[in-house]
Amino acid sequence: EPVVALVAAAGSGSRLGGGLAKALRPLAGRALVARSVDQLAAGGVQRAIVIVPAGLQPEFEAALADVPIPCTLVVGGSERQHSVRLGLAAVGDAGVVLVHDAARPMVPARVVADVISAVRAGHVAVVPALPVIDSIREVTGEGSRVVDRAALRGVQTPQGFAYAELVAAHEHVLAAGLEVTDDAACCEAVGHPVHLVPGSRLAMKVTEPTDLVIAEALWAARQE
Ligand code: CTP
Ligand code: MG
Repeated sequence: EPVVALVAAAGSGSRLGGGLAKALRPLAGRALVARSVDQLAAGGVQRAIVIVPAGLQPEFEAALADVPIPCTLVVGGSERQHSVRLGLAAVGDAGVVLVHDAARPMVPARVVADVISAVRAGHVAVVPALPVIDSIREVTGEGSRVVDRAALRGVQTPQGFAYAELVAAHEHVLAAGLEVTDDAACCEAVGHPVHLVPGSRLAMKVTEPTDLVIAEALWAARQE
C-alpha cells in the first residue's frame, strides 16, 4: 500500500512576514514546499497531497514542477487542522499517511523513514520529537513555577499514521466538536497511544525571520 504525505502549506506565514506565502519562500534558492517534498521523497514517500492557499495554485504548481514524486494540489482552510482534513479527503488509497509542515523544509530522510517504519511496525500514530533544551517555567496566578523538563518533548513533523485509523479519528473529533492541535492529538482523543521516534534539529520549523537565517546556515552545514 502506498505511502502518501499531506504537506500543509496553506498558511500565510504572518509571523515570518515578507509578503510571499511562507511555503514559497526560498531556502538556498528553492521553495520551502519543494524542499519539504524532496526530503519526504528521499525518506520513502511515494506521492504527496500539497495543501495550498486559495488563489496561489499556479505559483505552487511552478514551485513543485521538478519534485521527484507526483503531487496533487488541494486548497486549504482557515486553520491547520481544517487544511489537513481537506487534504485527507483527497488521499484515496494509502496504507501509511504522513502529515508534514511545509515550514520544516530540512527534515532528514532518516526521520521520514523512521516514522514510516514505526507505522508499518503497527503504531497507529507516530511523532518525531526532541528533548526540550531550555529550562521551562509555567506561568501561574501568583507568578511562575519551575517545570521538570526531563519528561517534556518538543514535537516535529512528519507525523505518521495508519490511514484508516487517522480518517476515523478525524471523523470522531469533528462529530464530537473536540478541539485538537494536531493529528497525533486527534488520534490520542480516540484512545490510540502516540509513539515517539527521535526527531532532528534539522526538522526545525521556519516561523520567524530569524528562523530563515538559522535555516540557511544549517542547510549549508547539514550532515544528514
Ligand atoms: N497551515 C495550513 N493551513 C492553515 C494554517 C497553517 O496548511 N490554515 C500550515 C502552514 O502552511 C505551515 C504549517 O501549517 O506549513 C505550520 O503552521 P505555521 O508554522 O503556523 O505556519 P503559518 O500558519 O503559515 O504561519 P503563521 O502562524 O505565522 O501565520
Ligand atoms: Mg500558523
